[in-house]
Amino acid sequence: MSFAADNENMNKLHGERRKTLPVVKVEQDLDEEHLPKRVLPILAAPYSPIPEGDELNIDEPIFPLEPATESTVVPSWLQLAPEDNVINYTPSTRVRHSVGLDVPGAVHTITTPKFRTDRQLDSKLVVIMVGLPARGKSYLVKKLRRYLNWLQYETKVFNVGNMRRVVENSQDQSASFFDPNNQDMKRIRDEIALSVLEQLIGWLKEGGRVAIHDATNSTLARRKLLIDRLEREPEIRVLLIESVCTDQAMLERNFCLKLSGPDYKNKDPVKALADFRSRVANYEKAYQPIGDWEEENDIQFCKLINVGKKVIAYNISGYLSGQCIFYLMNFNLNERQIFVTRHGESEDNITGRIGGDAPLSDKGKKFAKALAKFVQSQRIKFACELASKESELEPEGQQDFAKALQTTAKFCNSPFTIWTSMLQRSMQTAEYFDPDDYDIKHIRFLNEINSGICEGMTYQEIQQTHPSEYRSRQANKLFYRYPGMGGESYIDVIHRLQPMIVELERMTQSCLIITHRVVMRILLGYLLDWTREEMPHMMVPIHTVYELRPKPYGTELKKWQYIEETDSFIEF
Ligand code: F6P
Repeated sequence: MSFAADNENMNKLHGERRKTLPVVKVEQDLDEEHLPKRVLPILAAPYSPIPEGDELNIDEPIFPLEPATESTVVPSWLQLAPEDNVINYTPSTRVRHSVGLDVPGAVHTITTPKFRTDRQLDSKLVVIMVGLPARGKSYLVKKLRRYLNWLQYETKVFNVGNMRRVVENSQDQSASFFDPNNQDMKRIRDEIALSVLEQLIGWLKEGGRVAIHDATNSTLARRKLLIDRLEREPEIRVLLIESVCTDQAMLERNFCLKLSGPDYKNKDPVKALADFRSRVANYEKAYQPIGDWEEENDIQFCKLINVGKKVIAYNISGYLSGQCIFYLMNFNLNERQIFVTRHGESEDNITGRIGGDAPLSDKGKKFAKALAKFVQSQRIKFACELASKESELEPEGQQDFAKALQTTAKFCNSPFTIWTSMLQRSMQTAEYFDPDDYDIKHIRFLNEINSGICEGMTYQEIQQTHPSEYRSRQANKLFYRYPGMGGESYIDVIHRLQPMIVELERMTQSCLIITHRVVMRILLGYLLDWTREEMPHMMVPIHTVYELRPKPYGTELKKWQYIEETDSFIEF
């Protein structure tokens, strides 16, 4: 079959890469002959990393848990759910059909040779960042990388500044290094940018999907250099993203953030700021924003002005580029709280039945009541924090108590949204919130994974009645789709949650999401940058509340557990 052959080629292309995108269960999954020869203590068994016949070292996890990356401030609590600690490795899970996720919701594509060229053209993307220093480029690319990886498009950022610091560590890199009239230094900087581009092309050829060239690329000559090189790679598309910032206050904040960055850390802040300002001035002398040349040459680009307040897009074609632009248009830097929790204990939780639509148990109702009080108190604390930050901005000695109280009241009364799924246990958990103070929305996208023919069963019953299904899922939980009407995989749930993530990024107000185990893992997977190997296996117990605060440098996380005996929450 043509898609099976495609899959084989993809395997070759990906080599030892651990990330491919199988989304369809195939007959081999159900075939007893292919069931596991032995049980291996691995953390996750994604598809295709183990070449046929290779011996596996049982003591060594194939995919050790990586600590979550830059966006996670407190990663040490990461844990696997106990039932996920030992996972069967099923050789047959390697033989799955995948054509990637170019079209939302597509699980099968049978590609005819006639169209193959077009498809390949859209298969890889290089995003070239453009913009003066301190325009938030690195912030944008980190978010974009996290989002695309979460959508399962393997994405990597190639930062030219990091390479410059390594290659040129013997070189003086104060402002004069960036003087556009200093031809020697300019040549060195261009060479570094090109060498990073070579690395990035190599990575895409090994199987990566989206590579981001993170540098200023602020002259036309530099951009031409990069684009000329990429023209020799017919499978790669190029998207230029320029970040422009005209908001002076935002710029000043960005400048200050640079002082704790790798170029200026531990240096005298006054001298460092002066040096950075003169570096920016050097860049400004030679700066050529994206414009006529790019249009005349039909290069797709997007200009984001003031973190997406104004957006100019030109010739955007291709699904991936469209995804990038849509995402970048939808976020903001507002300080807010995002609470995420599972529903209170349900009648089915007591008996260990999955899926279904059971109501809350008595314990679950107790949690729901306590949750309403807890969120209210955290909301007030946050309002006080914001008010005290505002009053710190007042000149010394002019802080006014009455005004501070007013500001606190203003923050306390700012809108707060609650999202629940449309399942009883989730809606009932929101019942104790005062609708005068909270805007409560029930959303079907937040429903638990549909477990098809396994709905309403316990894991033990599934193991007994559908042993091969049980093992297939254990072997590859992320891609396994439950058979039967409406049955879903984690990948399917990621797709239906995509609009929720965009909405979460777009909205400026605080919110509480009351949902279910799989949805919660996937939402936290995005917010905390969990890898695809970690995400389906993370411990997210009921009666635990996670509070996330998006910050310019990542996401701050706090977590609380409900203690029934004392009817209170403790931070852990
Ligand atoms: O048991 C609660 C539950 O939310 C089920 O409804 C759901 O099928 C299950 O958890 C998902 O967890 P996992 O993906 O680990 O099986």
